[in-house]
Amino acid sequence: MKARSRLHAVLVVAAASLFYCSSSLQMGETCSADSQCAAGLLCETCPANGNTRPRCTRLQPVIPTTKVKGLAFNKYSWLTTHNSYALSGMTSATGATILSPTNQEDSVASQLQNGVRGLMLDMYDFENDIWLCHSIGGHCYNFTAFQPAINVLKEIQSFLEANPTEIVTIIIEDYVTSPKGLTKVFNESGLSKYWFPVSRMPKDGSDWPTVDDMTQKNQRLVVFTSIKSKEASEGIAYQWRYMVENQYGNGGMIAGSCPNRAESLPMNSTTVSLVLQNYFPTNPNSTEACADNSAPLISMMNTCFKLDGNRWPNFIAVDFYQRSDGGGAPEAVDEANGRLTCGCISIAYCKENGTSSSCDAPPLAPPPPAELSPGKSSSTTPLPQQSSGARTDSRRVLRQWTYVMFTAICYALSIEAKYLVAV
Ligand SMILES: *[C@@H]1O[C@H](CO)[C@@H](O)[C@H](O)[C@H]1NC(C)=O
Ligand SMILES: *[C@@H]1O[C@H](CO)[C@@H](O)[C@H](O)[C@H]1NC(C)=O
Ligand SMILES: *[C@@H]1O[C@H](CO)[C@@H](O)[C@H](O)[C@H]1NC(C)=O
Ligand SMILES: *[C@@H]1O[C@H](CO)[C@@H](O)[C@H](O)[C@H]1NC(C)=O
Ligand SMILES: *[C@@H]1O[C@H](CO)[C@@H](O)[C@H](O)[C@H]1NC(C)=O
Repeated sequence: MKARSRLHAVLVVAAASLFYCSSSLQMGETCSADSQCAAGLLCETCPANGNTRPRCTRLQPVIPTTKVKGLAFNKYSWLTTHNSYALSGMTSATGATILSPTNQEDSVASQLQNGVRGLMLDMYDFENDIWLCHSIGGHCYNFTAFQPAINVLKEIQSFLEANPTEIVTIIIEDYVTSPKGLTKVFNESGLSKYWFPVSRMPKDGSDWPTVDDMTQKNQRLVVFTSIKSKEASEGIAYQWRYMVENQYGNGGMIAGSCPNRAESLPMNSTTVSLVLQNYFPTNPNSTEACADNSAPLISMMNTCFKLDGNRWPNFIAVDFYQRSDGGGAPEAVDEANGRLTCGCISIAYCKENGTSSSCDAPPLAPPPPAELSPGKSSSTTPLPQQSSGARTDSRRVLRQWTYVMFTAICYALSIEAKYLVAV
């Protein structure tokens, strides 16, 4: 080969490698960075389950109202973050080091972008203002105070403004005793105009207004407080008048049982229309979360279904919602939405607008290997895609070999590039 055509060949291979390396990996495929995975996926391992092979895992649920439209609000399930504001690595806005446990890893703005629609916020009087605090004995301290609530409420306001068909629910663990404290901070944040009024919430277990109706009236913010008297004094709905909720913490993670938390009616009470399922340990644990947010979460959802009068949860509340061993909390939400809206095992399989019982066929997904193959930083895996017949299989083998080849070439090129930079 002449030097020129050799250069040509190198350039073509380099370009193809770049293209290949930047194309998106699907769920279950081996990855080395989030950016390699397709939209809505993260690159994660789950050592708590013995899974050390980094693979693309689910981050976002299907927004159910985009698939099956126009049903009553209580016919959908929403991904909910427990202590949404208690972010790992955050410094208190007071400047103090936070000593409280943390439950999530990205901002509420980012959670909303990722499809979270239920937010659990603990609010306290602090520094002549309302703060988000994860505290003890009903008092907020500078080492338990995250930030003024107004900051996070403004993030929610921006989201509702930019997304005129989305509905967000805030569940407040309420320690605010200052007169009209919550009303003031909601007013100030610009959220009051989205307020869904208590007068329109069903009080006898019947259906809520439809999501279309809520959108048309721009009543797209549903707020609950844990203080009963605020329903009369400030028009903020008393949570357990409208929803049943299972025990939070370790008591809610005992396989086979689904007890109600003390403040809630029994899980099978049909005088309320909403069901909230908590699934997180008493002491938040970021390394254990990927295991908790996977098969055991879905198993508990099935247990609670049986014990709460055959109802799927409307809110599925977890810690570290981004962590999972595959489908995670987004998969649980998709399953609940499938059952609630069209009777399919996941909303991904509902026909468009479908409430009929016919479902699109779920893709066959061979289980991926749990561990890295020895001596390799990256290995190929079966693709979790429609795989029927030899043709797909041979295509898959070809794709695996292409992957190995281009990964090797990319690797070689990156070493060469480093060498060139070094010399
Ligand atoms: C936190 O509060 C304590 C008293 O409760 C005070 O001594 C300390 O200086 C405060 N720290 C900050 C950073 O505000
Ligand atoms: C909140 O805003 C409403 C409407 O603007 C107003 O009527 C009400 O007085 C305000 N409440 C508080 C406590 O600021
Ligand atoms: C509801 O569950 C309780 C146990 O928590 C049980 O005693 C009761 O019979 C159930 N009621 C109905 C209507 O299923
Ligand atoms: C978190 O869970 C892991 C097991 O996955 C355990 O080894 C560790 O001690 C737990 N950490 C805390 C703080 O409970
Ligand atoms: C689904 O509903 C939308 C509006 O509600 C309508 O425009 C669309 O044609 C429907 N699609 C099917 C397949 O029925």
